[in-house]
Amino acid sequence: MSVLSGKNILLGVTAGIAAYKSAFLVRLLLKEGANVKVVMTPASKEFVTPLTLSTLSKNEVFSSFTNEEDDNAQWNNHVELALWADLFVIAPATANTLSKMANGTCDNLLLAVYLSAKCPVYYAPAMDLDMYKHPTTTTSFEKLDSFGNKRIDAMHGELASGLVGKGRMAEPEDIVDFISRDLEQGLPLRGKRVMITAGPTFEAIDPVRFIGNHSSGKMGYAIADCAASLGAEVTLISGPVSLSIGNDSVKVVSVTSAEEMYQAAHRYFDESDIAILSAAVADYRPAEVASEKIKKKDSELHLKLEKTRDILASLGAKKDKQYLVGFALETQNELENAKTKLKKKNLDLIVLNSLRDKGAGFKGDTNKVTLINKDNKTLPFEVKPKTEVARDILAYIIDEIDE
Ligand code: CTP
Repeated sequence: MSVLSGKNILLGVTAGIAAYKSAFLVRLLLKEGANVKVVMTPASKEFVTPLTLSTLSKNEVFSSFTNEEDDNAQWNNHVELALWADLFVIAPATANTLSKMANGTCDNLLLAVYLSAKCPVYYAPAMDLDMYKHPTTTTSFEKLDSFGNKRIDAMHGELASGLVGKGRMAEPEDIVDFISRDLEQGLPLRGKRVMITAGPTFEAIDPVRFIGNHSSGKMGYAIADCAASLGAEVTLISGPVSLSIGNDSVKVVSVTSAEEMYQAAHRYFDESDIAILSAAVADYRPAEVASEKIKKKDSELHLKLEKTRDILASLGAKKDKQYLVGFALETQNELENAKTKLKKKNLDLIVLNSLRDKGAGFKGDTNKVTLINKDNKTLPFEVKPKTEVARDILAYIIDEIDE
């Protein structure tokens, strides 16, 4: 999944001939899964029409504080637009606009949005070679870079004037690459390996029957997806579920039984930085698996069960550098039981969900969790969709490993 997926990107278009390339840029950003809105300087409308950009972006295009032709026009709120944006990309950025940005001039909507933006700002300069080299332009670059804006350098090539030199706006593909790479660099779990277990395990009785449980795997899958989108290299060890993973960078290792999950977890644990065990592993399995289907004969059938190995406890016993997270599903004395498990299994964090809480548990789309760390610090959360719970858990872990 692209790092731009789901991001709100505000594209600023200024009055340079490269503005025609903004149409391609909008399409590429959309293809990456981003939501795009466009803000234009008034003069840029001479180069590319708002209709083109609104049609491609599927959003209204903004170019002035009000729509002059509409008597009932409402004020286009630059602050709102700026706050909507996760990223502000100004491409093409002319010498004029760059100079105004560098000096705090605010005589159009795009500049007002720039001054209000709290998000990262990228700019792709485009101008003729002598303008590009001019000391005032260099000064603008230096100022803008010192403010934390990110420059996507212009290229060397043929310019609209017919001259050849540096000043061509970076190609839309290169702009998208630049931003994606830059965002990936800043992801909090970049360079970290995360192992996650999810779903139920099935313990065979005979070739057609098994002992299982109702775990859907949704919590673990949401954590895997979220960890990958935060830059981690994720291995998801999954019991039998009917889910697919959204982020295709996640390596999925499919297992069926508790023993298979144990083996897989030990295979990947040593190289992991973080291990999150959310699977609902069977605690017992049939002591013997019948090689043929068991026929119904007697009025009663007794199965002898034996204990499975506790994966989490075994990892807790051998862990060195890893940050180890377990789950606890409790029905009574929740906090106390969870704290005991945390200690007994040598965990760094335990995620408690109580079956007594509405909206919690392993079947639905929501969960209500309380996080308890090694120092017994507890942090309760409200009922939330599992995707948000995943974000809360990972944010907490990131905070702890950064300390
Ligand atoms: N777990 C595991 N291997 C097992 C059993 C559990 O890795 N054989 C992990 C689960 O993935 C979860 C945690 O242990 O992270 C807690 O599981 P839970 O079933 O709630 O607790 P148990 O330790 O099995 O204790 P009890 O069933 O008595 O509550």
